[in-house]
Amino acid sequence: MKEIKTISCIGAGYVGGPTMAVIALKNPNIRVNVVDINPDKIKQWNSDNMDDLPVYEPGLSDIVRQVRGKNLFFSTDIEKAIDEAEMIFISVNTPTKTYGVGKGMAADLKYVELCARQIAEVAKSDKIVVEKSTLPVRTASSIKRILSEQNKGLNYSVLSNPEFLAEGTAINDLLEADRILIGGEQNDSGKKAIEALVSIYAAWLPSERILTTNVWSSELSKLTANAFLAQRISSINAISALCEVTEADVDEVARAVGMDSRIGPKFLKSSVGFGGSCFQKDILNLVYLCRYYGLNEAADYWEQVIILNDYQKDRFAKKMVQSMFNTVSGKKIALLGWAFKKDTNDTRESAAIYVADKLMDEQAEIHVYDPKVKKARMMDDLNYLKTRTPEENEQLLTFENDPYEAVREAHAIAIITEWDEFKTLDWQKIYKLMKKPAFVFDGRNILDFKDLRKIGFEVSAIGKN
Ligand SMILES: NC(=O)c1ccc[n+]([C@@H]2O[C@H](COP(=O)([O-])OP(=O)(O)OC[C@H]3O[C@@H](n4cnc5c(N)ncnc54)[C@H](O)[C@@H]3O)[C@@H](O)[C@H]2O)c1
Repeated sequence: MKEIKTISCIGAGYVGGPTMAVIALKNPNIRVNVVDINPDKIKQWNSDNMDDLPVYEPGLSDIVRQVRGKNLFFSTDIEKAIDEAEMIFISVNTPTKTYGVGKGMAADLKYVELCARQIAEVAKSDKIVVEKSTLPVRTASSIKRILSEQNKGLNYSVLSNPEFLAEGTAINDLLEADRILIGGEQNDSGKKAIEALVSIYAAWLPSERILTTNVWSSELSKLTANAFLAQRISSINAISALCEVTEADVDEVARAVGMDSRIGPKFLKSSVGFGGSCFQKDILNLVYLCRYYGLNEAADYWEQVIILNDYQKDRFAKKMVQSMFNTVSGKKIALLGWAFKKDTNDTRESAAIYVADKLMDEQAEIHVYDPKVKKARMMDDLNYLKTRTPEENEQLLTFENDPYEAVREAHAIAIITEWDEFKTLDWQKIYKLMKKPAFVFDGRNILDFKDLRKIGFEVSAIGKN
């Protein structure tokens, strides 16, 4: 395999953008092209105003400023990017299918397949094709088949290199990765391809953190890792429901349990439920795969993680309504946070969407403040549900630029995202601005509920009394 001089990445989203920025930073002698079919997104990546970047991640704009135009380039010219590169990452979205066989469960691979077809058509030289997107186990064989179909006498190696970054900490996760996983074919050209990709990451990571496996283990490890992470959240959330009726405190239980070195303290924070583009879709995909292979007990086991997460969101919204005398019609309710977690502008599958929708069903007037999410995104999220017309959504949801305006005259506040700035708000002032009784529903357990009660708030926190 030739020396890698140019890498191209198809898909300039939450994974493609930050990952390639870091690869470019750490490999100054390699040209990195990031391409996307969405011209608006590419325009944003090329914007001089760093606030316009389509992805918000702490530390990302600094890196883009350093390498963009030097060895990192954003463009819509996919064919040129394919032609130029020895190594091509596929980093396009793989959402849950919304039609046909596997609807609501299986991963929709149409975007990945389109990339493979385009590479097969355009390529004039050997290519290493890297699956960066999260894919069902055995996808690499379909990609290889599509690539080889053109019979141009070219050599293609397909590698699986799933991404483990978490939004909100993506740059740190990339710079200090726990591990890099590279799966490849166990033959000569497969091994050379693995070596080529290892050398890219070895530019900044020690070799013991770069793990190489066969392709199928690598593909399946990504789904498994996300299923295990989500399972921990659903596990503690199941316990949070029990805490509320038994006067146990979920944070105390989590601490006691997490100090067992076999269990560990991370990912044991109870909340209104996990969101994000990955956990739900990847578990559904895992459930689908288990069922496909006739492993129904294994499928049921993993499906329960999703069922519990839906239960938690529903439980939170119901508790809000019940606490407010079973009626929220015409009441102003402030939602603090719309992003699915702090330090990101991503709202996919955010619990906020679900909670707002439930409260709007009850004709509550929702006022949302989020430091990074724009109004159009919120409206798109609600309209996508098709529960109401866009006009009705406009009437019931008000976008706020200032948290104190969001809470003025409100009957209740629901904290949906754990943004740090919510902890330092002036809660005395907020109490004065609100209608009484003033309710706070802390969906992330970020506030000291005893302090809030001293001020006069009625407080309800997940897994606490
Ligand atoms: N977001 C995460 O935290 C995360 C973490 C690890 C892995 N992943 C996985 O990485 C993949 C990408 O996720 P994402 O969050 O970056 O998605 P995204 O939606 O943010 O980005 C995907 C991009 O691909 C582009 N695209 C789609 N089809 C294309 C085509 N044929 N040609 C060119 N561009 C095309 C889209 O326009 C979009 O900009 C998914 O498989 C996801 O499961 C995501």
